[in-house]
Amino acid sequence: MTRHFLEIDDLSPDELTAVLDLSEDPAPRRVLAGRGVALLFEKPSLRTRNSTEMAVVQLGGHPLSIRADEIGLDVRESTEDVARTLAGYHAAIGARVFAHTKVERMAAVSDVPVVNLLSDEAHPLQALADLLTIRQEFGDLSGRCLAYVGDANNVARSLSIAALMLGMQVRLGCPPGYRFGPVDLDRIRAAGGEPTVHDRPEEAVEGADVVCTDVWASMGQEEQAEKRRRDFEGWTLDRGVVERLAPAGIFLHCLPAHRGEEASADVVDGPRSRIWPEAANRMHTARGLLAWLLREQEEG
Ligand code: CP
Ligand code: NVA
Repeated sequence: MTRHFLEIDDLSPDELTAVLDLSEDPAPRRVLAGRGVALLFEKPSLRTRNSTEMAVVQLGGHPLSIRADEIGLDVRESTEDVARTLAGYHAAIGARVFAHTKVERMAAVSDVPVVNLLSDEAHPLQALADLLTIRQEFGDLSGRCLAYVGDANNVARSLSIAALMLGMQVRLGCPPGYRFGPVDLDRIRAAGGEPTVHDRPEEAVEGADVVCTDVWASMGQEEQAEKRRRDFEGWTLDRGVVERLAPAGIFLHCLPAHRGEEASADVVDGPRSRIWPEAANRMHTARGLLAWLLREQEEG
């Protein structure tokens, strides 16, 4: 059966750990030798495109990045026909889309793995990199406390599920109107834990090992940016808030960062920040995931 990676819980906790272990393998088997991986983008990308392309190269393969408007996804031909065609040339397909249903539609017809490179609902590749960064910092994830402060978005959802799957505690600090609804909360709880919900950033961060945030307005929400800036007033992670972390606590941000909005410059660039190892881990975890998916594909 072809395995896909549309949300982090498409893997079991043991599989997730195996992917993190493979991500730290400095000389992985070149499972993609002579093969391609198609990477389709409906939205901009710096990290995801570069890290995934380089992961494919490191596995011996050839990445082919395509902008969705070049091929007219669902305009010139259906998403399903695009996926069926690409599956005939490539060992895997990655897609960054607005509607999550698009990656689901691809996976439904593709006999090669489909990887979600970010959708409006989920960013599981980012969650992999974040888990690896936390594991490298603390050695073990189990029992550690992760606070997410900001918009309850794609990054927050995947990371919350991922953290609970590996035995972390999760705290969600999101302003009113920007919290998870019951459907997302049920999906997060299904990972095996109960996230706590906090009304103030200070409360979410107090004594936590990790605090993570993301932009207030995601790609596709640009016209709401002004309103969101007003609604998120008082939710900036500044030094005063971040110093409430446990003594060895760290700050993560998937990037791009807006210094002075979701986090102050002295936090983004400060001593607790691990944003650069986190960004670099996007490549290592993309490589670990692809190596794992391709091995599953070979073993059938
Ligand atoms: N963090 C992340 O996914 O960055 P890009 O949008 O630049 O790919
Ligand atoms: N939540 C952000 C993440 C960017 C990597 C977005 O979807 O734009």
